[in-house]
Amino acid sequence: MKGVVLAGGLGSRLHPLTKVTNKHLLPVYNKPMIYYPIEALITAGIDEILIVTGGNDAGDFLRLLGNGEAFGLRRINYAYQTGEGGIAHALSYAEQFAAGEPICVMLGDNIIERNFIEATRDFEQQRQGAKVLLKEVPDPQRFGVPVFDNDQIVAFEEKPKAPSSSYAVVGIYFYDARVFEIIRSLKPSARGELEITDVNNVYLSDGELTWSLLEGWWTDAGTFDSLLLANKLVADASAKDD
Ligand code: G1P
Repeated sequence: MKGVVLAGGLGSRLHPLTKVTNKHLLPVYNKPMIYYPIEALITAGIDEILIVTGGNDAGDFLRLLGNGEAFGLRRINYAYQTGEGGIAHALSYAEQFAAGEPICVMLGDNIIERNFIEATRDFEQQRQGAKVLLKEVPDPQRFGVPVFDNDQIVAFEEKPKAPSSSYAVVGIYFYDARVFEIIRSLKPSARGELEITDVNNVYLSDGELTWSLLEGWWTDAGTFDSLLLANKLVADASAKDD
């Protein structure tokens, strides 16, 4: 399976840290943030990787990542997102790279402790539709949140004020090639973005979405608090490894 890391956006919740650089180039303990999703994909057995980025700092990704030597890769693919249109808009730039095959998409500010190799294997069997990963969190209102009816998901809500469950949709998604058709059919949300949550809702209402729980800790790093938490979690984990 091919992997896509989404690393665009303005990082406005991290201003002024992101005034002159892209969020995904900021340090998380001893590495730039984007290293973590790349390593996570590789650990899940996905080594054909596209980075989608944009803005003024796109060239910095080339200088930092080159051909992927630091990860033992022979090459990395890059796509340039024109403008800011949300996660689903960024993903639309991966259509040529995907070339009709299923993909795993990881948000460039998501950091995980363990691996998701089992979910990858499951989606390789599933082939069609979509798969999302969930994690129980103390602050679901910050994320995409599943609405359950017994143990069935009936909808996803993006950053609901009153979350109907304590689960967050993690920024790791598996899609078949129909995802690009779905993105073309989306309308911008109230915040003017093409939402990945709307993509997931289309698959869900077509009965084509599966889910599983992510093992180990997970955090995003897109706010001051979550960036600090990410630094602490990674530092603690590397202290344990020593
Ligand atoms: C995005 C998605 C959200 C998901 C989260 C995971 O949120 O919109 O559904 O739960 O990533 O990190 P954002 O990065 O816009 O806060």
